[in-house]
Amino acid sequence: MTDPATSYRHQRIGGGNLMAKSVQDGVRGRSTRPAPVQDKRAARWLVISTAKGGSGKTTTARNLAVAAAHEGLQVLVVDTDAQQALARWAARRPEQAPPVACEAIALAEIEAHWDRLDASEADIVIVDTPPGVESSPSQMQTLLRKADLVLVPVQPSDDDIESAAPWMALLARLEVPAHFLLNRVRRGSKSLDEAKLGLLETGGRLAPIEVRDLEDIRRSARAGIGVMELRGANGADDFRGVWAFVRSELGIRNR
Ligand SMILES: Nc1ncnc2c1ncn2[C@@H]1O[C@H](COP(=O)(O)OP(=O)(O)OP(=O)(O)O)[C@@H](O)[C@H]1O
Ligand SMILES: [Mg+2]
Repeated sequence: MTDPATSYRHQRIGGGNLMAKSVQDGVRGRSTRPAPVQDKRAARWLVISTAKGGSGKTTTARNLAVAAAHEGLQVLVVDTDAQQALARWAARRPEQAPPVACEAIALAEIEAHWDRLDASEADIVIVDTPPGVESSPSQMQTLLRKADLVLVPVQPSDDDIESAAPWMALLARLEVPAHFLLNRVRRGSKSLDEAKLGLLETGGRLAPIEVRDLEDIRRSARAGIGVMELRGANGADDFRGVWAFVRSELGIRNR
């Protein structure tokens, strides 16, 4: 029997006719793809990372990938989590949706793929990371140093903030541009105000738009789409706003 840990090490996600076989195959030759929005240059690397599990890393990676793809960018998501939730989502992606190419690459091996990914057609590489990354600090730090921007999703609870603060301190030591992204919030709630204050007091910076806790965000993931692709969904503007911020931080020109 194949050992899942071994077979995971580096896979391009096929997913029948649903998923790209490679960066180039995945994003080229699709008549539905909007025109490119910028001249080709090295891919910009967005890493979604925090030590805490369940904070919304994979959800953020999916929805920002979709937002970027809808602007005509060639998007590659890299799943470094052995659970492969992002890769499975990518394999569910409908044929007619703007393509999001996906590769599953173990954290220990990602450095060996940098040159190839940088030389690929991808405009943006979005890397989802596993929880509990304290267990492989040097590999994670190597990846974090590669990032043009790191987003640290955090839910508005004391536990999440306590866990996210040292992660942001690590990013500051590494001199990597990074922002907290508040996720699963209830707008107008006292807990959100307290969380913003708590995060700012750690010395970290906050993305200016937070993401609400919405059923439609969960539902869209099941269908291999982003919430902005779910007809009539709540939450599309949340990730649209986060993407506008990320795009600006990464220096990706607007159309
Ligand atoms: N804004 C949101 N609204 C509603 N549900 C959300 C939201 N963000 C995340 N979730 C749900 O919370 C759960 C955890 O989210 P997600 O898988 O993105 O976290 P994660 O940080 O990637 O977790 P892990 O550390 O296990 O990889 C999922 O069931 C997801 O659908
Ligand atoms: Mg995840």
